[in-house]
Amino acid sequence: MSFSKIGVVGLGTMGAGIAEVLARGGLPVVGVEIDDAALTRGRGHLEKSTGRAVGRGRLTEEGRREILDRVALTTAFADLAGCDLVIEAVPERLELKRRVFAELDKVCRADAVLATNTSSLSVTEIAVSTGRPEQIVGVHFFNPAPVMRLVEVIGTVLTGPGHVGRVADLVAGLGKTPVVVGDRAGFVANRLLFGYLNQAANMYADGHATREDIDTAMRLGGGLPMGPLTLMDLIGLDTCLEVLEAVYRESRDRRHAAAPVLRELVTAGLLGRKTGRGFYSYG
Ligand code: CAA
Repeated sequence: MSFSKIGVVGLGTMGAGIAEVLARGGLPVVGVEIDDAALTRGRGHLEKSTGRAVGRGRLTEEGRREILDRVALTTAFADLAGCDLVIEAVPERLELKRRVFAELDKVCRADAVLATNTSSLSVTEIAVSTGRPEQIVGVHFFNPAPVMRLVEVIGTVLTGPGHVGRVADLVAGLGKTPVVVGDRAGFVANRLLFGYLNQAANMYADGHATREDIDTAMRLGGGLPMGPLTLMDLIGLDTCLEVLEAVYRESRDRRHAAAPVLRELVTAGLLGRKTGRGFYSYG
């Protein structure tokens, strides 16, 4: 592997999924959260996901224990000092990410590469908030990270030679497929996917068809694993809104002007699966 010890900051859905992928690949991981309650939630994500794999006969209980043991959980940023790569996966707020990167800049080895899992913010803006912009890359996993095979690896105009390639090698070594993309809002996959998702939200709100029929049409007619409204509930409607706003800001393409129904649901706190209700309700 091109890195030997990897830190993950933020153990929400994405961060915990990324930590699991790394630990499954045999790498020691340091997982950081802000407090004990968040750390407990992070541990819960890891236990649930690996437990599901055991339940499906994809992993032995012993294999699961080894994976969980490879992830050292902590609330101390200083514990990242021995990592040669740190992947940040905190909520999509630029100010928060900049604070995290300023802290990483202080505690991490001078030669450590720092990566962001942002799906909508500018990697360049994050890079310039550190004293080592040439060592900042984007590494964008998809939800659910343990299952989805694609990872976008993003280099900025400031990224030094070799770092993108090293991160892409790591991704390949983990059994995923890397694609190398430039720092444009939405990168490649979200830039193409979200115009479609947004249109589905508008169709639903316009009464074009029921939510079930919109989803069935694309699942069976488009050969997709999930229909668009179910997928948005999985991604999180707040994340969907953030991605659309970022892409719209850059592209000014009306396809990315967020559907009013999406904004309405987010304002109401109905964020999809993670809150129990979005386009659908979850028991
Ligand atoms: N965590 C870990 N594993 C999971 C999981 C999760 N949250 N959800 C499902 N799985 C695993 C299951 O254990 C199962 O594994 P095995 O085949 O090894 O037994 C496998 O995934 C299939 O799961 P299920 O049979 O339960 O359900 P499914 O066949 O409907 O698959 C799905 C579920 C993988 C989520 C599938 O529906 C799918 O691929 N959906 C599309 C997801 C997608 O498009 N994601 C990208 C969103 S965009 C994004 O993430 C970018 C961004 O920046 C917002």
